[in-house]
Amino acid sequence: MKLKFFVTTPIYYVNDVPHIGNAYTTIAADILAMWNRILGNEVFFLTGLDENSIKTVKAAKEKGITNLHEYTDSMAKTWKDAWSSLKISNNDFIRTTEDRHKKTVLSFFKKIFDNDDIYKGTYEGLYCEGCEQFYTEKDLENGLCPFHKKTPKKITEKNYFFKLSKYQKPLIEYIENNPNFIKPESRRNEVISFIKEDLHDVSISRPHLEWGIDLPIDSNHKFWVWFDALINYISANPSQWPATVQIVGKDILRFHCVIWPAMLMSAGYQLPETIFVHGFFTIDGQKISKSLGNAVDPIELSKKHGLDAVRYFLFREIPFGSDGDFSDEAVVQRKNSDLADNLGNLVNRVLVLVERYFDSSIPKFVAKDNFVKKVSGLPERVENLMENFQFHNALSEIWQTIAEANKYINETKPWKIKNKEKLGNILYNLMETLRYVAILIYPFMPETAEKIMKQLGLELRFSFKDLTWGGLREGKKIRRGNILFTKLQN
Ligand code: MSP
Repeated sequence: MKLKFFVTTPIYYVNDVPHIGNAYTTIAADILAMWNRILGNEVFFLTGLDENSIKTVKAAKEKGITNLHEYTDSMAKTWKDAWSSLKISNNDFIRTTEDRHKKTVLSFFKKIFDNDDIYKGTYEGLYCEGCEQFYTEKDLENGLCPFHKKTPKKITEKNYFFKLSKYQKPLIEYIENNPNFIKPESRRNEVISFIKEDLHDVSISRPHLEWGIDLPIDSNHKFWVWFDALINYISANPSQWPATVQIVGKDILRFHCVIWPAMLMSAGYQLPETIFVHGFFTIDGQKISKSLGNAVDPIELSKKHGLDAVRYFLFREIPFGSDGDFSDEAVVQRKNSDLADNLGNLVNRVLVLVERYFDSSIPKFVAKDNFVKKVSGLPERVENLMENFQFHNALSEIWQTIAEANKYINETKPWKIKNKEKLGNILYNLMETLRYVAILIYPFMPETAEKIMKQLGLELRFSFKDLTWGGLREGKKIRRGNILFTKLQN
């Protein structure tokens, strides 16, 4: 039976266009989805948009658009187009203005309500009129709203609350008993100490909002956007729940690792297997921000460097889970050295040799040597690293093999070998290495993997099961193509 693998990204706010930070998370989920597809698992990959926020109303107003649905529809198209131009392989795209979502939110809420976890109380908070949003003391900068630089008003409001505090003990127990629930370890510890400190009930409704999902028990209230947004993971396709991996950035750790599991416990749903929290990256050492105007457009970037170079860079340069920095120079450097000099060059060298000495036919495999022994262990090493979300180490393993293959050519000097059988064996081993590399890099660099497979004269089939030595058939024709990567000057 096929194993089920369900991966999610956060649903992004609809009021802005996708930037490189959102693309980073979405590509990470895509890599996991594609990796699981090559393992033969049944994958469901979900992403989508968070539309019921007050930000949506503000953004539409700023643009002079009065029909909010028209606005979100046109933005949804922008996001969907962006993901398809980045070749994201999601199976579904959920929007929180859809009926399927509203329906699930209502039934989810009913379960919590019936469980006696909702009560009406008084909410006291700091309210910024500019943002139309509550803040805590910690969010403020010198007591001022970080965006409007004004002192927020103290507001007291009747709201409906979710009894989060009731779940303090069960949450700690669950997280402590399930070491894979929150990853990496440092985030898990952070969540445990946060929950242990103090857990307050959370307000899940807002009065007098013009946009959002109505609270069924009080027509003056709508759901707080986070309460409704988290439920998207179920509403897209309830039969898929629970998720195997939920990927989120560290900015939304508490929503996903504290409130969300408590909501699920209260409503009687299973918890996701793993919530993986990744770091944030800066651009040229600076925080990505609209006001700095440094929000890199992922589509422009992939037009400039090629999609695979961008995907490779993001997951080779920044250890998944840690913070990192993005710069154009660093992309160019990785592209020139790892992609053009190492991978691209290897493919070209090997195919030129097969063309020259074997008239483009795959030579005969005779025997394994030490080089082959090393390459044969590569799939297992990569699999172990992928299981632990060590994307950068998985890529580094693959690139070590590429470097070994280049070294194998330099040391064996095929152009000097007179014995045809010996020469054929070396070239066969190199071609098999290229086939291994193509299959293993497919989740990270789908376009490049396909180009290599085509040049090897193989079908575009990417399966981990095919990673046994000797898969290439003697006599089949290769089709050398253009070089894979051109070097860029910085
Ligand atoms: N709508 C909420 C999420 C609701 S999920 C039920 C939201 N949306 S967002 O548009 O602000 O997206 C935040 C996410 O974008 C982060 O958690 C992270 O995944 C990604 N990133 C945004 N900036 C980023 C960086 N600078 N670096 C890495 N990831 C970044 O929050």
